[in-house]
Amino acid sequence: MRVRALWWDEGRLALLDQRLLPGREKILRLRTVAAVANAIRTMQVRGAPAIGVAAAYGMALAAAQPRSTPEKTAKLLRSTRPTAYDLFVGIETVRAAWSNGDDPLAAAHAYREKIVEECRKIGEAGASLFQRRPNVLTHCNAGALATVEWGTALAPLRVARDRGAKLFVYVDETRPLLQGSRLTAWELAREHIRHAVIADNAAGYFLRTGAVDAVIVGADRIARNGDFANKIGTYEKAVVARENGVPFYVAAPWSTFDGARPDGSAIPVEERDPNEVLEFGGRRTAPLASRARNPAFDVTPAKFVTAFVTPDGVLRPRELAARLSRIARPE
Ligand code: MRU
Repeated sequence: MRVRALWWDEGRLALLDQRLLPGREKILRLRTVAAVANAIRTMQVRGAPAIGVAAAYGMALAAAQPRSTPEKTAKLLRSTRPTAYDLFVGIETVRAAWSNGDDPLAAAHAYREKIVEECRKIGEAGASLFQRRPNVLTHCNAGALATVEWGTALAPLRVARDRGAKLFVYVDETRPLLQGSRLTAWELAREHIRHAVIADNAAGYFLRTGAVDAVIVGADRIARNGDFANKIGTYEKAVVARENGVPFYVAAPWSTFDGARPDGSAIPVEERDPNEVLEFGGRRTAPLASRARNPAFDVTPAKFVTAFVTPDGVLRPRELAARLSRIARPE
């Protein structure tokens, strides 16, 4: 069955609790913007496009409450996670509708539909890249769980498989929160797409030994020149792919493109709780005296990107700026 990360259910935002997958499929039904903000912050819902849609519904939930205001609600939701641009686009889309006297819930529904449709188009646009390059490496989870439906990086793989490609996906486990082994592998297993989970530090081995024909990842924010933020560890995969002549693709809807930002140098990078690194499965693995650093994202320079897979087709980094100047920006 098709995976869906979240949906609207009779006045509540329903979402699969991604902290518990793959062990448990628990659906949360959220009634308040505070609950939505908490779900984004704690990564019960995660992935750039998905948190944008969740935040859009958070705005709509608040709009139904008598004492809330568009500005205060937007401020609360903006404070949840700093890196994914989609979050700000989703919030601003509904804030504008609410401030203009339009129906905030209708705006949230429309935003959700737009994201789902753009991800479907990413699948169509990118599928042919993998017909002759069926051994693919991906990092983190850029599937339906991260985007509502289809995925970004996984959408072209889904379509390529449906068109007969004999795919094999190398899934980076993605420490420290294991979005690869917990979530991407869960999605691929449900759809019977052949894959192997690999330790993050094994990616170089598979890239160098010729096992991998192409890399595809999602993104959390893409600057005008094509520099992009994605899950920590993406940068080193991109460098090693280039070193070994393996094409490196980045798939994203337009809500991830921050056209006002000339390059990636000042993209805000979220730093999370050090305990995510010091512990494994809730058990301390590092000495009690040790400290940790835990940046959740890194920024990869555009020079390592072969092409961006967008809803409007496959674009080289140098083609981006012209395309982005035609998109309205929320910040
Ligand atoms: O911290 P997360 O799990 O929200 O990070 C998600 C990623 O880095 C994804 O690769 C990115 O959001 C693209 S999702 C289509």
